[in-house]
Amino acid sequence: MSKLLEVHEVSKYYVHKDGWMPGKPVCALEPVSFSLERGETLAIMGETGSGKSTIAKIIAGAERPSSGDIFLNGQSLTRMSDRQRCRHVRMIFQDSLRSLNPQITVGKQLCEPLIFNTDLNYPQQKERVHQVLSQVGLLPDHYDFYPHMLSSGQQQRVAIARAIVLEPQIVVADEAFVALDPSIRAQIINLILDLQEDMGISFIFVSHSAEIVKHVSDKILIMHRGKMIEFGTTKALINHPEEQLTKTLLHSEHKYKVPLHSTTKE
Ligand SMILES: Nc1ncnc2c1ncn2[C@@H]1O[C@H](COP(=O)(O)OP(=O)(O)OP(=O)(O)O)[C@@H](O)[C@H]1O
Ligand SMILES: [Mg+2]
Repeated sequence: MSKLLEVHEVSKYYVHKDGWMPGKPVCALEPVSFSLERGETLAIMGETGSGKSTIAKIIAGAERPSSGDIFLNGQSLTRMSDRQRCRHVRMIFQDSLRSLNPQITVGKQLCEPLIFNTDLNYPQQKERVHQVLSQVGLLPDHYDFYPHMLSSGQQQRVAIARAIVLEPQIVVADEAFVALDPSIRAQIINLILDLQEDMGISFIFVSHSAEIVKHVSDKILIMHRGKMIEFGTTKALINHPEEQLTKTLLHSEHKYKVPLHSTTKE
């Protein structure tokens, strides 16, 4: 397997404008390095404020690192144009309804990335959108629906469709499934496993659920106060965790009881 993603010494400082020390840079992420092979799924775990979203946003291009670089197939992601990067890495947000435009139909919203990032003509865009609707388990009729006409599970499917419509190599999801009802969450996670198998997409997801992480991920990264304290295969971290926090996070009470596919990576 070739190396898909290499995160090399990436750090992030924020300069707070207010607070008791305005202007002083605050470290959200100390230099982290790790890599991911093609088609692998990475789970990022850690306590609140440990830097999970910061890494996720930097990989997705929503934030720039203060130092270090990220390489996709050996090419620097930070030096790519937004248009180029968008084709390779996409992000799914936590609140799918808020991330969708209430005034634009599903079909038009799914066409948007194709208009801005490809040279497809209108009939080709429409064809690709119908294809992607079916890939995420929606119907052709949903093309003309507005987001409020969909259930929360269907809205999350649209958000996933928008993330995969450009056939990216990586999809980043930051606690994207937390707000969903458990049975719907299970369906969405199973959909992601299917997409991973069919399209070879690598998922990077932030999650607090040990059960979901064990089920879906190939590798796990554990964060603590802006530092990466452990990184390795899911099997290694479950069976031989080196850090107490890893043990606690992976062996915590199962928060979500969900009927997932039986292909756990444990
Ligand atoms: N835009 C910002 N400006 C200033 N500080 C920020 C900004 N974004 C994040 N931080 C700080 O960086 C640190 C890490 O934040 P981050 O959002 O990555 O945590 P997290 O692990 O995702 O936490 P949670 O589980 O609560 O979502 C926090 O101390 C946070 O206050
Ligand atoms: Mg977060």
